[in-house]
Amino acid sequence: MSLQLFLVTLLISRSLGNPFCTRPKYQTNDYYTYEEIQEYLKGLADSYSSRVILTDIGKSFENRNLTTITISNGDGRKGKNVIFIDAGMHGREWITHTAALNIIDQLVVNFKKNMELLEDYDWVILPLVNADGYTYSRSGKVFTDEAIDCRSVTTLDHEFKCWRKNRNSKGNVCIGTDLNRNFGHGWGKGRSSTLSCTETYNGPYKFSEPESQAVQKVLLDLVKSRRGILYLTLHSAGSKILYPWGSERIDAENYKEHLEMAQAGVDAISNGKFKFPSNYKTIPSYKLYVAGGSSNDYAYKIGFALSMTWELPEKRGNLSFGFHPPTNLIKELVEETWIGIRATAQKVIQKYPIQKKSIKMVNKNS
Ligand code: ARG
Ligand code: ZN
Repeated sequence: MSLQLFLVTLLISRSLGNPFCTRPKYQTNDYYTYEEIQEYLKGLADSYSSRVILTDIGKSFENRNLTTITISNGDGRKGKNVIFIDAGMHGREWITHTAALNIIDQLVVNFKKNMELLEDYDWVILPLVNADGYTYSRSGKVFTDEAIDCRSVTTLDHEFKCWRKNRNSKGNVCIGTDLNRNFGHGWGKGRSSTLSCTETYNGPYKFSEPESQAVQKVLLDLVKSRRGILYLTLHSAGSKILYPWGSERIDAENYKEHLEMAQAGVDAISNGKFKFPSNYKTIPSYKLYVAGGSSNDYAYKIGFALSMTWELPEKRGNLSFGFHPPTNLIKELVEETWIGIRATAQKVIQKYPIQKKSIKMVNKNS
């Protein structure tokens, strides 16, 4: 092709929102920085403008944009049901936003193969809730796939890499609030602390943090427009799927539905192509431990039909890696996660088709 013809083709293909050469390529060889994540999202919005919308839903304490990507099939139909996924609420849980980027890649770039998931549903994804905490967790030495045990933090470098909270430094002795203790349901209950120097500090009051406020707003908007069906929040590590409640020892009234939806994902993973597939256990959050103020409880409380926390795996075969899987495992871990989430989503879409709205209008458990 002549250079001229090439440039014209490039121009036309871009204006049609048709990827050609410029299309961003998702890489699984390393963890993306905050800036790389933003770059990747922008690239998708440019290349797939008919199916992708970016929205800045707020700013982190240190003024980073928190950006959701809304993915549709581009048919312009309004009022579809929504699956909302977030990740990276805890700084050190690096595999979670990586998995979220792969989900985005599957739905946008690998659209043809997954288009049935976008027929009656839009997907809204916030890949990195705790942009500051994550950036801080990378501020030490370059990660070289070394084993890191966050249960006994011994060096300054581990203190960086094991950082969990946000980076709010206003008014307290120590820095950071645990965002997953800062939401408005059951705030302060259970394993949750009022001391700023602890890992589970819940903040001075409910929704005191800009990051939890941003997520709250998305959740509320989706419930108000009666579109929010599934909320899925990605954490690590422990190979568990958690469902409400976490703030008290009660099972969600539609716990059977939660079990059924989760099981579809668990089965898909064990029947997948992996030599050492993860063996997820599905339990109510309180069985892990009681803790109030989580986003998972909050989403369910305000009216999402289904609300799950996926705690991504902490090991592969007999290799334990906790929050920091070696980079050569990223590809297989995010692929496995997608296989599970896709199967769960398929079940949810069957169960909650577009006409039949959430059966769960009120939670008796309030
Ligand atoms: N490990 C997560 C956290 O500490 C999940 C908590 C789930 N909720 C619960 N009540 N156990 O935030
Ligand atoms: Zn977490």
